[in-house]
Amino acid sequence: MHDYVTWLRHSSPYINSHRKRTFVIMLPGEGLAHANFNAIVHDLVLLHSLGVRLVLVHGSRPQIEQALQARQLPSRYHNNLRITDRDTLDCIISAVGQLRSLIEARFSVNMATSPMQGAKVRIVSGNLVTARPCGVVDGVDLLHTGEVRRIDHQAINQLLNQHHMVLLPHLGYSPTGETFNLSCEDVATHTAIALQADKLILFTAEQGLLDSDRRLIRELNLQQAHQHLQTLIAPEQKAILQAAIDASENQVSRCHIISYQRDGALLSELFTRDGCGTLVDQGGFEQVREATIDDVGGLLELIRPLEEQGLLVRRSRDLLEQEINQFSVVERDGLLIACAALYPFPEDRTGELACLAVHPDYRHAGHGDTMLERITQRARELKLDSLFVLTTRTSHWFQERGFMPCQVEDLPQRKAELYNFQRNSKVFRLLLTGN
Ligand SMILES: CC(C)(COP(=O)(O)OP(=O)(O)OC[C@H]1O[C@@H](n2cnc3c(N)ncnc32)[C@H](O)[C@@H]1OP(=O)(O)O)[C@@H](O)C(=O)NCCC(=O)NCCS
Repeated sequence: MHDYVTWLRHSSPYINSHRKRTFVIMLPGEGLAHANFNAIVHDLVLLHSLGVRLVLVHGSRPQIEQALQARQLPSRYHNNLRITDRDTLDCIISAVGQLRSLIEARFSVNMATSPMQGAKVRIVSGNLVTARPCGVVDGVDLLHTGEVRRIDHQAINQLLNQHHMVLLPHLGYSPTGETFNLSCEDVATHTAIALQADKLILFTAEQGLLDSDRRLIRELNLQQAHQHLQTLIAPEQKAILQAAIDASENQVSRCHIISYQRDGALLSELFTRDGCGTLVDQGGFEQVREATIDDVGGLLELIRPLEEQGLLVRRSRDLLEQEINQFSVVERDGLLIACAALYPFPEDRTGELACLAVHPDYRHAGHGDTMLERITQRARELKLDSLFVLTTRTSHWFQERGFMPCQVEDLPQRKAELYNFQRNSKVFRLLLTGN
């Protein structure tokens, strides 16, 4: 019981940061055929219930193979692209049709024994992807194999705004009225880019991307992702990483590669600090910036526990809203993990450094120093000669960074008058002149 309460509380910042975001999820045909598919459906329904806008793109490779075998038709490839003749296209359309029906049925479950009770998810699809033929490659005509030409992002956005989940198979239609077989990576990537999605989540057979010793790679920036791509041999892995790279290079800031075999992989990836798969990002994973009014909620989450421990002076939401412009923050993956405020006293050419805090999970990584540097820089821009800080239990941290003890009387008069003798904070000053 206690674990559950703790887990739910720790999830709340993630719940807030994911709400109203758009995630494009790619699930290959192998994932639809896997025993874990039911659990994936439950997790998608939960995300939907938490206000995440979801587009599900699916593949159907094993189902197509089965349909071809049943009709004793050969499976022909060129450069890992299927050569789709008329008979093959018929098999693909029937496999995709069956999968659509299977998916719609699974999302309709609403029984007292199911985690989906009361969720009422509508999953809708349509002619939302325009395609063109791949044409002749190296002298081989790929026939009805195509590539994405356009995604009807306006229609998809309308559906998402109406709280529908959108289902996109790997089929597209041309203005000439033909059907084309597309790769699901192609559809997922183009959709994520066209919607300017917040995340592209790619399900794969492995836990994520693996290094040469088969250990999970937790995080790759774009440059590392390009390097890793050169080392990959398996076409499926290459296609997945290429999709993540293409999306990242086109403003989809985070692409996650996770396992469809592992129960709960999606939730662990989205609601825990380290996730359980591979994250490919643009490199700007952490960002130091000035706070805006939208950060008030995140700041409260960060500082409340420290206020309760008496490490920080209590600030009400109203006060934070009024003083938000004094704050600088470090944002990581949509969460605020560090903050500090500068209250200038220009008439005394000094300023107060206040509310310095680093989230306990992110300590020992220099974020305190980053915040101190930022505040110092802002103070210099305001032509202040010194910074002071009032602290009860962090004296040594400041002293180790050049702050010198001083007296309450050394504070600007306005501040000295407000000094809380009961709190009995120690006062330290850092001179900014001369550096
Ligand atoms: C102070 C704080 C911002 C530093 O965060 P950080 O940059 O992640 O720094 P670390 O936790 O890695 O600590 C860096 C060093 O300072 C030391 N340190 C951390 N807190 C300290 C404290 N209260 N007093 C003395 N030293 C401290 C650490 O031991 C570490 O030194 P070490 O590597 O030699 O052991 C963070 O500990 C915090 O948020 N504390 C609670 C809020 C607070 O006290 N704010 C100050 C209000 S005035």
